[in-house]
Amino acid sequence: MEFKYLKIERKEDITFIEINRSEALNALNEDVLGELNDCFENLEKEKSNRVAVITGQGKAFVAGADIAKMRDFDPTKAYEFSNLGQSVFNKIDRSHIITIAAINGFALGGGMELALACDIRIASSKAKVGLPEVSLGLIPGFGGTQRLVRLVGTGIACEVVLTGNQYSAAEALQMGIVNKVTEPEELLSEATKMAKAILSRGTNAIQQAKRVIKLGIEDSMEGGLYQEKATFSSLFNTQEPKEGLSAFLEKRKPNF
Ligand code: HXC
Repeated sequence: MEFKYLKIERKEDITFIEINRSEALNALNEDVLGELNDCFENLEKEKSNRVAVITGQGKAFVAGADIAKMRDFDPTKAYEFSNLGQSVFNKIDRSHIITIAAINGFALGGGMELALACDIRIASSKAKVGLPEVSLGLIPGFGGTQRLVRLVGTGIACEVVLTGNQYSAAEALQMGIVNKVTEPEELLSEATKMAKAILSRGTNAIQQAKRVIKLGIEDSMEGGLYQEKATFSSLFNTQEPKEGLSAFLEKRKPNF
């Protein structure tokens, strides 16, 4: 896969996606969003693509949607742009591929929204996160108002969205926005460690677990619990539980 703004590398079964538009701190315009869409569409065709790490080149993860582009928007253009970003981030959120955002620097506005669309967030101690849209007279438009509240609850989400403040990695950890903070030079190795742990587990199990977690967010408790038992039982149509359960009892590592 060749892209202008994305560098894709596959190492030890992990796909690394680096956003590289450094002249604008990796800001998201239609082209970058289009490439992210095509990248996931391609990755999803291949079942062996199970875990992806998304990071940014230079001092930013992504500094937001492209401010220069948005200045001349009318409501129709603004709607289309928001719709495009939402649909690309929905694709990432709902993908069978497990995604880890390795937040190397600024993750602001649309950049934080991209990180929120990933399943797991690891931040460098140098990272800064926030949703500064209100300081531009906007609101988040790539899913941030909805995903942040589901991740951290209404109180923290209101603080982040309504103040537009930037938060350090340590603050983001305390607020539940990121899972983990590492030294900058250890960011990718920490993401790799987490990716490898996921890759070592049952292939169907990890994909179905993600699917059920995400379905449950949109559903009632009862609906979510139904999805859980239906999926739990359907895994027994595959060889994975047999191998995983036998391996435990035979005191060996499973071979999924
Ligand atoms: C376009 C951007 C940009 C952005 C930075 N740049 N962020 N260009 N869109 N979001 C450009 C700058 O204009 C500058 O270009 C170059 O990148 C370097 O940025 P500096 O500001 O000089 O760097 P620094 O002083 O280190 O400050 C870093 C920063 C700051 C704190 C991240 O750039 C910043 O506040 N950026 C905007 C962050 C933001 O408000 N994001 C939310 C956008 S709204 P030149 O040509 O001067 O070198 C959004 C809405 C999403 O995301 C939903 C849409 C539907």
